Amino acid sequence: MGYNTRRNSSSAGNATQPAASGLISQLRTATKPVHQSLEQHPILQPLLSPVLTREDYRRVLIAFADFYRILEPPLLDELIRVTDQQNTTYHYRPRWPLLQDDLRDLGTMIDTLPSVTPALPSMENTGALLGVLYVLEGATQGGRIIAPHLARTLGLDADCGVRYFRVYQQDTWQQFKALLTCYDGLLDDKAVTHSAVQIFNMLYQHLDHYLPSDRTDP
Ligand code: HEM
Repeated sequence: MGYNTRRNSSSAGNATQPAASGLISQLRTATKPVHQSLEQHPILQPLLSPVLTREDYRRVLIAFADFYRILEPPLLDELIRVTDQQNTTYHYRPRWPLLQDDLRDLGTMIDTLPSVTPALPSMENTGALLGVLYVLEGATQGGRIIAPHLARTLGLDADCGVRYFRVYQQDTWQQFKALLTCYDGLLDDKAVTHSAVQIFNMLYQHLDHYLPSDRTDP
């Protein structure tokens, strides 16, 4: 798929969203180019292809599972500190168990897979942590167009194989944006946007490890 679906998609577009302000707006602007690159990574590109195969999809799940497996334990530790400080209803739903179940549905036992340890961003600083979370929560927006496509092309759904891409919940996204708003003016905005851009780039590099060995560039 050689096009960018972010903010252009009719099914997940922003026509009904109010204009964003403050930190969220800066995050959107700062991460737009890296989102475009990531979306076009050869591992992710087939996701919206009409000829997507189970093997293409399985490769995405394995790469993501490995990423979240390493990222989530420190993320969850640091997140307690932030949610304890703020009066928030926001709750992060761990993705690693969803990815494990999706892979099991596709007949793959995750503990038998070769693992690549991704480089991790530091999340000790609140700004850096929120930048990472923006990317992880924002990623669910893509799921709103990817999950229906997986149903059409592979016959998979939220009960079988598509738990991760179906994780989007309107309330969670609103609650996360409300949490970000609590920090408007209190953080070094550059530290937040830097962390978000950094994790996009780290994920891109991580995905490189999962390119099929027979792949040759055109
Ligand atoms: C083929 C893969 C992907 C597609 C097709 C896709 C598509 C989309 C779409 C349609 C939106 C919503 C745009 C809007 O409503 O304005 C979006 C937003 C976003 N996506 Fe992706 N995406 C993909 C992969 C990813 C990945 C892997 C990540 C990060 C791990 C990610 C992070 C984000 C973020 C942070 C937002 C912005 C949320 C916001 O501020 O509204 N996306 N994406």
